Amino acid sequence: MKKVVLSYSGGLDTSICIPLLREHYNFDSVVTVTVDVGQPDLKEAQKKGEKFSDRHYTVDAKDEFVHDYIFPAIKANGNYEGYVLGTALARPLIAKKTVEIAHKEKANALAHGCTGKGNDQFRFEAVFRTTNLDVIAPRRDLNLTREEEIEYARAHDIPVPVTKAKPWSVDENLWSRSIEGGKLEDPGYAPPEEIFQWTVPPGKAPNNPEIIRVGFKKGVPVALNGKRMNGVALIQRLNEIGGQHGVGRTDIIEDRILGLKARENYEHPAATILLTAHKDLEQVVLTRDEIKFKMLVDATWAELAYHGLVDDPLFADLSALIDKTQERVTGEVKVQLFKGNAKVVARESPNALYSKELVSFDVKMLDSKATEGYAKFYGLQARLFKKL
Ligand code: ARG
Repeated sequence: MKKVVLSYSGGLDTSICIPLLREHYNFDSVVTVTVDVGQPDLKEAQKKGEKFSDRHYTVDAKDEFVHDYIFPAIKANGNYEGYVLGTALARPLIAKKTVEIAHKEKANALAHGCTGKGNDQFRFEAVFRTTNLDVIAPRRDLNLTREEEIEYARAHDIPVPVTKAKPWSVDENLWSRSIEGGKLEDPGYAPPEEIFQWTVPPGKAPNNPEIIRVGFKKGVPVALNGKRMNGVALIQRLNEIGGQHGVGRTDIIEDRILGLKARENYEHPAATILLTAHKDLEQVVLTRDEIKFKMLVDATWAELAYHGLVDDPLFADLSALIDKTQERVTGEVKVQLFKGNAKVVARESPNALYSKELVSFDVKMLDSKATEGYAKFYGLQARLFKKL
């Protein structure tokens, strides 16, 4: 008996993969796995999975997503070309959970519903191919047009969303909501208000700013307004509060893994707030040299994360350095939310390298005779170069 386990979102794309796996690849049994990383339409996915597949699993991975993927991203100031990396972070975890079910089910193969154009095929397969199971990508193999897919779905009684009502391709998890496709594929077309769901238009946000306090311990957020919270709840809450103030919208041209440039819109209020606050706290506790070096480490970390190469030894190497720096990143940051902006207005840390005594205009602690000596030699090499 040939059995395949499919990573299943419940959308049209992965739904047509179920009959395709039976008809084109001769699988006797198709098992579907939906991994809960905080997306909203789980019930729908479960219902469809149970209806169309031979066996369906829903796996709650929200805590793991936060602790093993989002928290490391915060420590690394995770950002790829302006993208906070939501989808990219979730894919390896979804793939790993799919593999776990495949082992449990003693399946022969793993499948995903990605096409040949995007990033997700690589992210899935970087994980899938660490097993010796076959890897099947029906949509990439068959390269069907949207029309052909819809026709195939209709023929197999798979519900087709009215294309007019859902003209965008959306991917959602706790860390970000991504909207692409349709008219947005024209980079000259400004995103219409209707694509946004997590955030109000900044212009319609409250006229009064709101200040929130985020507490960090060793580089990760642990409290909101003085109240300790678990990671999932804290991120959900910040998505709500930030969303009400229109915080966390981005519209970027992004370099995909293949080299294609893609137009991407995102919403990520919690990510914007937490990344802004975290960076500010680092600025207070890390040395100048640590900050400078860490910027390079963070950039490479984000690139590997975007590429889904989380099992590359370099990823672990960089993460070790990042974790070491985060041992001191503890403290509280006040962030003001106002009409689309998240701005740090105050910060404090027991590990601050900041010295009010030394920097203040009002105190004569620094030996200015000594700094005069330092100044005399300052820029020495430029003077040697100019033969002065
Ligand atoms: N561009 C992002 C990434 O590669 C998000 C893609 C999400 N997919 C979608 N259909 N909206 O991670």
